[in-house]
Amino acid sequence: MKQTTDFLKMKEAGEKIAMVTAYDYPSAKTAEQAGIDMILVGDSLGMVVLGYETTVPVTINDMVHHSKAVRRGATDTFIVVDMPFMSYHVSTGDTLVNAARIIQETGAHAVKLEGADEVLGKIKALTTAGVPVMAHLGLTPQSVGVLGGYKVQGKDAEAAMKLIEDARLCEEAGAFALVLECVPKQLAAEVSSKITIPVIGIGAGSGVDGQVLVYHDLVGYGSGRVPKFVKQYGQASANITEMLGQYISEVKTGQFPETIHTFTMKEEELQALYG
Ligand code: KIV
Ligand code: NA
Repeated sequence: MKQTTDFLKMKEAGEKIAMVTAYDYPSAKTAEQAGIDMILVGDSLGMVVLGYETTVPVTINDMVHHSKAVRRGATDTFIVVDMPFMSYHVSTGDTLVNAARIIQETGAHAVKLEGADEVLGKIKALTTAGVPVMAHLGLTPQSVGVLGGYKVQGKDAEAAMKLIEDARLCEEAGAFALVLECVPKQLAAEVSSKITIPVIGIGAGSGVDGQVLVYHDLVGYGSGRVPKFVKQYGQASANITEMLGQYISEVKTGQFPETIHTFTMKEEELQALYG
């Protein structure tokens, strides 16, 4: 299993880091079998698995419940878990307690926090306490209400300069990696060159140190319309709907079950039964 230091070495060696989200046993298992470098139990689970409009309603209990299943499915992969909305904007003490729940109850290896500014102190407190932290800048979906929608971030020079500075501060606070979401590729590449920790991009172009995508977006499973930055490698939903449709029609026509799906009794037992 890769460790935080391995991701740093990968950046130094110019080897790209491939990360994907997972939310349950089968998604984690398939991600590990495919050879993924790192799994994120994203709070995007609120949207893609639980059907909420945003990530805001997701709770610590939701994250713990799903992360346990992910851990059981991927026993040999580095797992990062999102700290959900407001769970690290409370006191430093409560932030540590919330992170401890995630790490101790699930067996995950790191947590992810969105934002810089007042969050920097929390990154420092967590890493000091021994919890590896992945930072997350650019589009930070937990602040969608403040940002005014899902938009590209850091498009003007002033915002870009703040983002570069924030990335530097996240590294200084002890983060072992940084997710950069939905920013222009030039800015993302600049951020990556200005810090030593790996930058994992999503909607941030190819000039960063790795990529992360939402599992369900990538495989086309129940996610409907996807953002511009997603590449869909298939349409799992279409396949599944087709399979289910076939099942329904075979049940109705009696084509299913066939003899090979059926148990039988020995002749003498039947005689004893019916006389
Ligand atoms: O929750 C999530 O899936 C994420 C990734 C998009 C980075 O935070
Ligand atoms: Na997230």
